[in-house]
Amino acid sequence: MRKKVIAGNWKMNKVLTEAEQFADNVTDKLPNDDNVEAIVCAPFPFLPSLVEKTKGSRLQVGAQNMHFEDSGAFTGEVSPVMLKDLGVTYVVIGHSERREHFAETDQTVNKKVHAAFNHGLTPIVCVGESLEQREANQTMNHTEQQIKKGLEGLRHDQVADTIIAYEPIWAIGTGKTASSADANEVCAHIRNVVKEMTSGDIAEQVVIQYGGSVKPANIDELLTQSDIDGALVGGASLEAESFQQLVEAGT
Ligand code: G3P
Repeated sequence: MRKKVIAGNWKMNKVLTEAEQFADNVTDKLPNDDNVEAIVCAPFPFLPSLVEKTKGSRLQVGAQNMHFEDSGAFTGEVSPVMLKDLGVTYVVIGHSERREHFAETDQTVNKKVHAAFNHGLTPIVCVGESLEQREANQTMNHTEQQIKKGLEGLRHDQVADTIIAYEPIWAIGTGKTASSADANEVCAHIRNVVKEMTSGDIAEQVVIQYGGSVKPANIDELLTQSDIDGALVGGASLEAESFQQLVEAGT
């Protein structure tokens, strides 16, 4: 059975004291259940403190982005070596906001996914269609291309360890959630693409999250779907209580 992975993506929110308060409020309240993994993906400046505060707890810490190079003349960038050194374990790669505002492509996503594995970080790779693409019936083809290009060249065991987040862009921060059946249909398609790229066994192991206006009120139904193994949550992950409820839904 695949475990459920509930990840908060704080995006560019909070200041350090709020991030620390969140950790203080949440760490000892998370369910002690190995079948659910709880992660917060926080802005870079909070990572050292969050890693420190969550030590020995069930809360894991992730970054929201990184560069694919180890070091060098890349002003303003953060490398996988730096994240690993801090004790970060996950990194979100190719979020639609990075693709839209920072010109990330499937090629840079692919380089970053390889870099993450080369440094022992687990990538959470985001894919998903725009409203125009959905209306033009391109959802399946678009997500398939993103998966094929984004995961190109990975070993099968690395594909198995990748977390894929299906986030339809039109559902992000809009309050519009994909219906659980629609979301599941795309997640099942993604699993099938992974199967074609690797094997049935590997496809069964891959964790596929849904993201887009997930909240305590709708997560239960999403998690009952056959191919949805968790959630990548923006707005509803910012408050400790709401995050805790989302993680509890995974138990
Ligand atoms: O990565 C999470 C995300 O993009 C969804 O955001 O606020 O709709 O849960 P939100």
